[in-house]
Formats: sequence, structure tokens, C-alpha cells
Amino acid sequence: MTPSVLRDNLQDFEIPGRVTLLKGKGDLMKIDVHTDWSTAQVYLHGAHVTGFQKKSEPPLLFTSSFSRFASGQAIRGGIPVIFPWFGPRAGEPAHGFARLKNWELREATVAPEGGVSLRFHLPSETGGAWASCSVNYVVTITDSLSLELIITNTTDRGQLIFENCLHTYFAVEDIAAVSISGLKGVDYLDKVDNHMPKIETAQDIRIASEVDRTYLATTATVEILDSKLRRKIRIKKIGSASTVVWNPWAAKAQQMTDFGDGEYRQMVCVESGNVGPNKIELGPAKSSVLKVNISSEAI
Ligand code: BG6
Repeated sequence: MTPSVLRDNLQDFEIPGRVTLLKGKGDLMKIDVHTDWSTAQVYLHGAHVTGFQKKSEPPLLFTSSFSRFASGQAIRGGIPVIFPWFGPRAGEPAHGFARLKNWELREATVAPEGGVSLRFHLPSETGGAWASCSVNYVVTITDSLSLELIITNTTDRGQLIFENCLHTYFAVEDIAAVSISGLKGVDYLDKVDNHMPKIETAQDIRIASEVDRTYLATTATVEILDSKLRRKIRIKKIGSASTVVWNPWAAKAQQMTDFGDGEYRQMVCVESGNVGPNKIELGPAKSSVLKVNISSEAI
């Protein structure tokens, strides 16, 4: 499909006052969503939610002002969709190819009470190990943000083995005033300590240096308390056994060309998925559903 055909078809998905299709940064196609409670922006590139904001609150998601917006490059911030592997892989793009692809918009709908749902489809790979899966993603915007990643093994024999993750960057006022709860007692792999297995002892996790932890076998709701912004963010999940908490801190930030040197103070990633030992093995004709709901309230 040529870009112009794609664009023409996309206008059909517009819903006056609710869903607008336009060129975003880097000339990439963007969907602007307005609901009675909130606004959101989603790029077809990566089916990437780059913004969500309730009318009464500052933005909930962090997107770097240094992010690249270009095909073949990952957007830094918002919600990268990570599939079919998490982290680096020799000769392949880090965190998989889903965040680098132009997804198809298949449906835009308004619910009677005013929420908007967008349904995306990842164009199938032709040939190779990933040709036998179908990947759909539904983003629902109301007074909260709901995400649903549905992966189907389309073969009639053979297992589909993959990792997935909704790699969400949350905006915070100042990382020094943030605590993260819900992970006490959970086993994790500490990437900044040579992947050492550890157990979380903190009720309220505070971040004062580089943090890169993969919490395993946890389906718990996680809360981010931002005492400076006076906001609590709640991340509820279904179909996710892993939670990743990441902040690059100062030295790593300086090495990242698509991230400002001081931006580590304004973000924290709390990522919901199935990674490492929690990777998914799907039987023939089976589907897995990863659901995340992100809500917030003033405190
Ligand atoms: C996190 C990983 O999920 O993503 C980190 O745990 C990684 O190790 C980070 O550095 C960012 O990855 P990328 O590929 O977007 O730079």
C-alpha cells in the first residue's frame, strides 16, 4: 500500500470532534483523540501512544523532547509496544520490531458514554519465524487509558514463543519526590547488578540512581505516588506476569542521543508484560491478551 492510499483511507476513520488524523512530527501519521475527560495522541508508527492527558491534570505520559520521529527509529517516551522480544538481540532491533513498524488502523469507535477506542493491526511478516502470528492492539481513551495487546498463534501446529511489554514512560514532576508501591516481596532480576536475582524489600521504592529491574511472577497493581505533583498513578494489569521498572539516571541519559541529559528527573518507566522467564508459549490457534489500565487521581 502506498503512503497516499494509506492516508486517503485513514480519513474514513475520522469522527468529528473525537478522532482526527493528521501529520505529526517527522511527517508520521498521528491520531488526535478528544473525549469528554481527556485527550490522547497515537502514532501509526509503532501504534505508539505518545500522549494522554486528563482535562484536570498535567500530562500522564512522558515523551522526550529529543525523541526521533522517523520510520525505522523508536520513539523515546509514551508507550512503545515491545514484541516479539524484550531487550537486545544479536543482529536484530532492541525490544523487537513492533515499535518500528507502521501499524494499520482498523477501527475507530466512540462508545455511547463518550470514550474512544482505536484498533490497530501489526502488518504480518512475510516468511520467517514471525509470519505465523497475528497481532492486534486496542487503545481505549476515557478518563483513563486502557491498552489491550492480543497475540494469536495462527498455525495449526507448533508453539509460538515470544515476549511482550507495554513499555510505559510516566511523567513525574521530580523523580526525587516519587515512590512506587505494589512490588514488595516480589523476586526481580537486577540488570544494573549483573542480572542478580533479588527480592524487593521496599514497600515504597525510591529512585536515586540508575534502576533497571525485571520483577517476575507478579500480576500486582502498581502505584506511582508523585508527592510534588500531588498525583497518584495506578497501573492495573491482566495477562502480565512481569513488571519492569526503569530509570536511566544521569550517566546513561548522557549516552542516549534521543533523550535529554536532565530528563531522567521527569520520568519513570513502569512496564507491564511477559519477559525473560515469564515469556509466553502459545499453542496452535491460541491467543494471549495483555491488558493494562492506567488511571490517576489527585492526592
Ligand atoms: C528497559 C530496559 O525496558 O528499556 C532497559 O529494561 C533499556 O535495559 C530500556 O535500557 C530502554 O531501551 P531502548 O531500547 O528503548 O533504549
